[in-house]
Amino acid sequence: MGVEALALHGLSIRLGGAQILHDVTLNVPAGSFTCLLGPSGCGKTTLLRSIAGFAPPASGDIRLGARSIADLPPEKRGTAMVFQSYALWPHMTVAGNLTYPLKLRGIVRAERDARAEALLDILGLSGFGARKVGSLSGGQRQRVALGRALIIDPPILLLDEPLSNLDAAIRRNLRGELRRLQQRLGITTIMVTHDQEEALAMADTIVLMRAGRVVQVAAPQDLYARPADLDAGRFLGVDNMLAGRPDDPVAAATLGFRSMDARIHATAPQDALVRHGTVLDCAYTGGGYHLQLQSGAEVISAVSGVPVTPGSQVCVAVPTASLMAFGADQMLLPNGSPPIAETVQ
Ligand SMILES: Nc1ncnc2c1ncn2[C@@H]1O[C@H](COP(=O)(O)OP(=O)(O)O)[C@@H](O)[C@H]1O
Ligand SMILES: [Mg+2]
Repeated sequence: MGVEALALHGLSIRLGGAQILHDVTLNVPAGSFTCLLGPSGCGKTTLLRSIAGFAPPASGDIRLGARSIADLPPEKRGTAMVFQSYALWPHMTVAGNLTYPLKLRGIVRAERDARAEALLDILGLSGFGARKVGSLSGGQRQRVALGRALIIDPPILLLDEPLSNLDAAIRRNLRGELRRLQQRLGITTIMVTHDQEEALAMADTIVLMRAGRVVQVAAPQDLYARPADLDAGRFLGVDNMLAGRPDDPVAAATLGFRSMDARIHATAPQDALVRHGTVLDCAYTGGGYHLQLQSGAEVISAVSGVPVTPGSQVCVAVPTASLMAFGADQMLLPNGSPPIAETVQ
């Protein structure tokens, strides 16, 4: 398999008179797995289509390895794309679907069959070559679609929500499978998803997008712990955003944290954000309880190992290490900035 880096420089795309992508600059290292993550309509598919050659840029450049591919037609780029909807031919056999791109390229039968056999083996579909695609499960069909993309030996693999149509359990299994396959082949891969959990589980690097722009590029752990702004935080499950107070352990206009990091305490602990409130409701979530508290004008989401009666007064605390501090401009503040900037020299 070819392994090439991809670079986008100041890429802008206009469709139907509207600007869909704004000045996107991005480096995707060779052999890496990158996820484009963002809400529906933010431009993820358009970005993928522009790399494949189906959406011409209004300005900017797309480079694969050392060469610019921005002006090449799709078939000259050699990129391979897999869609959510499989786009397989159901009346054809698995082998027929897999080898179709090779047939188009005039590759002889013996070589087509040999490549199909090798891929079926890699995909865990040995012996399925003669089966009709219509008789396969969703997970198996998506593997065939992946095989059809890989059979042309592409320098880069583009996946548009490839797991979104599948049941939760199959999706989880296929995540691991797809990731292992990508690592084994070492192929540069860009996958679009709107599912933050999927992106966190699979990516080397996540590209967070919003309204046609790149908001943040980070490793999953960094994105999760340090989202760039309030919206990014909300998208990554930071479900509490409280107005900062002078006696809080971290100075900020807004303090963000996830309910799983907010726990009920009998007495206020040290080195934590502390709020007092009245329990509005308490819902069992399987492993524990999820609480909603009224604290002044704010509602706080928290967790508890034991049930708490609605109406009771409680103290909720969040360890300082779990807090995200945002400034008045809604941007994340630098890590480790002291609560009071006082230096005695
Ligand atoms: N061919 C098109 N003509 C005009 N607008 C389009 C076209 N394709 C997509 N769009 C618009 O571009 C925006 C981004 O779409 P898309 O890239 O499909 O987003 P995503 O994949 O993140 O859901 C949407 O507002 C969509 O309506
Ligand atoms: Mg899309």
